[in-house]
Amino acid sequence: MRHDPAVVDDPKGHWQVVPHAEDYDRGRFGDVKGRVYRWVEERALRRAIRPLARTDRILDAACGTGRITSLLLRAGFQGVVASDISLAMMSVAQRRLAQVPFFQSDVTSLPFDDASFDTVTCVGLLMHLDRDTRLRALAELARISRRFLVVQYGCVGGFTRLVKWLTGGEPGGVRHSIVQAEITRDLQRIGLRERARFWALRPFSTSVILLLTK
Ligand SMILES: C[S@@+](CC[C@H](N)C(=O)[O-])C[C@H]1O[C@@H](n2cnc3c(N)ncnc32)[C@H](O)[C@@H]1O
Repeated sequence: MRHDPAVVDDPKGHWQVVPHAEDYDRGRFGDVKGRVYRWVEERALRRAIRPLARTDRILDAACGTGRITSLLLRAGFQGVVASDISLAMMSVAQRRLAQVPFFQSDVTSLPFDDASFDTVTCVGLLMHLDRDTRLRALAELARISRRFLVVQYGCVGGFTRLVKWLTGGEPGGVRHSIVQAEITRDLQRIGLRERARFWALRPFSTSVILLLTK
């Protein structure tokens, strides 16, 4: 497999580097492709959160620079809390979202009691994690949620496999895109049920948002 310099191999460390954090939004969403990607992904997310009560207490885990945190606020949620391992990413978020409480924490070990949120969101992280870390993260998100999880996977299908074969690059530009059978196994393993799924732009994008219940 060709080494893709854009692929993040150390998700825990990469976004703790201040220039990586300060440049995240411009680098990821600044050009036309990035703006389209952001629009389709956020449309999928808005659909996923539509059934949730606006009074729900929500944690946006791996909040980064607060893109999804801000979407939740704009969607009318009142009790929004955010966490990330990177202080550098959260300091960008804090400058924009001064009203939100932020917690620095690893998603595999969150400083919250069992069932302390009605809903937990996690976008833009699972596809960067190896299988064991991904399962530990999902189990932890399930532990602190009373009912709902809204998570994003990078799910590879026939079209993205063909692109990978032609270009030698990683599908979706991430290290750990997975196939549907692995998502099914993850959910069985953690004891989560899929209520709905919303593709960002199938088949061109691997991004899929799942609405899950415990
Ligand atoms: C691609 S960014 C996504 C940020 C935001 N959710 C979004 O969609 O724009 C991934 C984020 O996951 C965070 N992250 C990586 N590993 C983590 C871990 N083990 N625990 C918590 N956050 C982590 C990074 O610091 C980074 O902010």
